[in-house]
Amino acid sequence: MPDPERLVGGGLNAGEPDEPQLRPQNLDEFVGQPKLREHLSILLEAAQAREESVDHLLFAGPPGLGKTSLAGIVAQEQGSVLSVTSGPALERAGDVAAILTNLGPGDVLFIDEIHRLPRAVEEVLYPAMEDFQLDIVIGKGPSARTIRLDLPRFTMIGATTRTGLLAGPLRDRFGFVARLDYYTADDLASIVQRSAGILGVPCERSGAVEIARRSRGTPRIANRLLRRVRDFAQVRSGGVIDHDTARSGLDVFEVDRVGLDKVDRRILTALCATFGGQPVGLSTLAVTVGEEPDTVEDVYEPYLLQMGYLRRTQRGRVGTDAAFEHLGLHRPVNDPSQKVRPDDSAVSLFDQSQ
Ligand SMILES: Nc1ncnc2c1ncn2[C@@H]1O[C@H](COP(=O)(O)OP(=O)(O)OP(=O)(O)O)[C@@H](O)[C@H]1O
Ligand SMILES: [Mg+2]
Repeated sequence: MPDPERLVGGGLNAGEPDEPQLRPQNLDEFVGQPKLREHLSILLEAAQAREESVDHLLFAGPPGLGKTSLAGIVAQEQGSVLSVTSGPALERAGDVAAILTNLGPGDVLFIDEIHRLPRAVEEVLYPAMEDFQLDIVIGKGPSARTIRLDLPRFTMIGATTRTGLLAGPLRDRFGFVARLDYYTADDLASIVQRSAGILGVPCERSGAVEIARRSRGTPRIANRLLRRVRDFAQVRSGGVIDHDTARSGLDVFEVDRVGLDKVDRRILTALCATFGGQPVGLSTLAVTVGEEPDTVEDVYEPYLLQMGYLRRTQRGRVGTDAAFEHLGLHRPVNDPSQKVRPDDSAVSLFDQSQ
């Protein structure tokens, strides 16, 4: 049975060694997403006033936007114990049953990548989430019987990059579904300045803005670029991050002016140059750029869609005029992919079902 990491609010460690330091610990430290912050603070305050634990929450959105951080914040704000696990770690119904029976009243159970839960595990969660009950089957065959255990009232928090893949009955059992959006450059600049303060790196607003502009709307990327610019500043320009240092540092690390990295550019080059603007299937595109289809779909595509460089159509992925322009290429004349067909309706950012 995979043991969940049991923690008291916050302290969810992952990625770079200084990641835990940079993770916001409470709602006030969580920059941006004003609507979501407001909704969550209402939910938390109301639950606190009723002396109950907050309803089950689902956080959805592309990687690195703060889903795990928010789970830690909810536990911290409630003063509750946080148990952390993930969809792929829960292989059998028994795995989740063991975790559920270990929960105390008011605890928060965080399940990352919840869209990857096996069906058998999901079925254990339905009565647990809805009625705080756990059905356990004892024995096998005709003599098998079910016993029902009462669970303490707990809060389940799910995080997913793919709401489209979540089974309807599971999604419906969350009392609140929050969709995280890409951050504005202004919010990202504030995140960069906050992180620079924690890391003890002198960083001017103009430098933070330059890093923010190239961070694909994503705090995790903003923090990563800050670390690289810090290295550059330390070695090449006296340690202070100003506009010029940020720009030169990011150029050295091949992050372009709108934040596209090498893989983004490889994807756009495949769409626009290799396939000349014709629709391309996800798996063909993934093989062409040397990445897994899931990685292309979860990590790279959402931002390219958001920026208007890529379109998803029923016939495949297509590079847009903006992509051709960004790469300095001309679209081949008489390109049939530009003729709109009735089945070519664009697919929205979060509809990951196709
Ligand atoms: N709103 C925010 N304010 C300040 N920092 C943030 C914010 N959101 C995220 N971060 C920073 O970005 C990092 C990544 O966030 P987090 O791990 O919560 O993302 P995630 O949505 O769980 O990503 P994944 O889908 O990859 O698990 C955090 O360690 C934190 O430093
Ligand atoms: Mg996470």
